[in-house]
Amino acid sequence: MIALVAGLSHSLLVGGPPTRTGGARCASSPCMAESPRKLRVGLVGGGTVGGGIVTILEGARELQASLGVDVEIATICVRDKAKPRDFPLPAGCAVVDDVEEILGDGSIDLVCEVMGGTTLAKEVVMRSIADGKHVVTANKALIAAALPELQEKLAEANAKQVLGSEGKFGFEAAVCGGIPIIHALQRDFLGDEVSQLSGIINGCTNFILSNMAQGGLSYSDALKEASALGYAEAAPRRRRLATRHPPRHTSPPHAASPRLLPRSAEISRDHPRSPGDLAPCRGLTEAAATSFEAPPLRPRRRHQHVLTTDRLSAFVSPCFVPTSNTLASISGATNAVQIGSANLGSTVLVGQGAGRLPTANSCVSDILDI
Ligand SMILES: NC(=O)c1ccc[n+]([C@@H]2O[C@H](COP(=O)([O-])OP(=O)(O)OC[C@H]3O[C@@H](n4cnc5c(N)ncnc54)[C@H](OP(=O)(O)O)[C@@H]3O)[C@@H](O)[C@H]2O)c1
Repeated sequence: MIALVAGLSHSLLVGGPPTRTGGARCASSPCMAESPRKLRVGLVGGGTVGGGIVTILEGARELQASLGVDVEIATICVRDKAKPRDFPLPAGCAVVDDVEEILGDGSIDLVCEVMGGTTLAKEVVMRSIADGKHVVTANKALIAAALPELQEKLAEANAKQVLGSEGKFGFEAAVCGGIPIIHALQRDFLGDEVSQLSGIINGCTNFILSNMAQGGLSYSDALKEASALGYAEAAPRRRRLATRHPPRHTSPPHAASPRLLPRSAEISRDHPRSPGDLAPCRGLTEAAATSFEAPPLRPRRRHQHVLTTDRLSAFVSPCFVPTSNTLASISGATNAVQIGSANLGSTVLVGQGAGRLPTANSCVSDILDI
């Protein structure tokens, strides 16, 4: 996550061009073109997010017509073809278990990668970009690990294309699920100078913290509930609050940052230390409900990114925030991002940071925006 936001913020600071074009709905041409533009989609992954994408797109035929586009989900690639799906398959859609059936299909215009992981998923995205296909992904791990590489591949592939037929790459769903933070940063702050991003940008972990603090659940029960509701993937290791590797950061955030949780599972608000000292090495797995009783503070997993002209300071950590702070009222899987900028001052976007339809909605926005 840090790498992702840092990369974006840096490109904003240096005036890097957005990788996608504007896509506001419009009532005039080309949106009202006589015959809709056909967009054949290969969906790699038919799980929580993939199923949501199919559900939304199939239920939005009229909207597609009004936008002058006809999205056909031609092929869905899954791991187990025999597994029953909890969403209706579009008419004529092939379900396959070999990704080559999508990658090697020249009639597919757009590949939507919602399988997760950073190995096969990376190959899918890189090859699709190289082949001139549009790509949409919800894959936060991949974006965090390889965004600059993917953008470089996109620029390289587009340099070979005729002007106007460049491939697009959308990854709105990979950050804050349903909140349009990537679109906002790429389009709506172009004339502004962003100096700080902070907030709760992981719905799953905020859901876990809220349920531990307010619902009295143990960490493992809260994680199970998060998985059952689709907030956590089947193998949620990367999301966990407990990690043996402290989050990467360069230097401490500004002095106004709230107190952070100490390393130990014993949560106290009387241990103000530097973020470096306080990076959660053991996490909150052993915390009990009483550990959170520290009014007027609320525990939140807070992400903060402070930008200066030539460098970025960032940290991700569970921390207490004052109840008077907007973030304290954000519970469940809800995310919130506060953007500090020269012209707008403080802007806060609040919404669903995980779950089937919110996350799929961001993918669908990217698809319809192509
Ligand atoms: N869930 C959320 O709320 C959320 C929020 C933001 C971002 N995301 C991101 O969205 C992506 C998908 O998440 P998800 O929750 O939808 O995961 P999921 O429910 O586990 O679905 C993954 C899908 O990919 C398929 N798949 C996995 N490995 C495969 C392989 N080797 N070959 C072919 N198909 C394979 C699976 O097939 P089978 O069904 O046959 O097993 C499944 O359909 C992840 O990158 C995740 O980080 C998810």
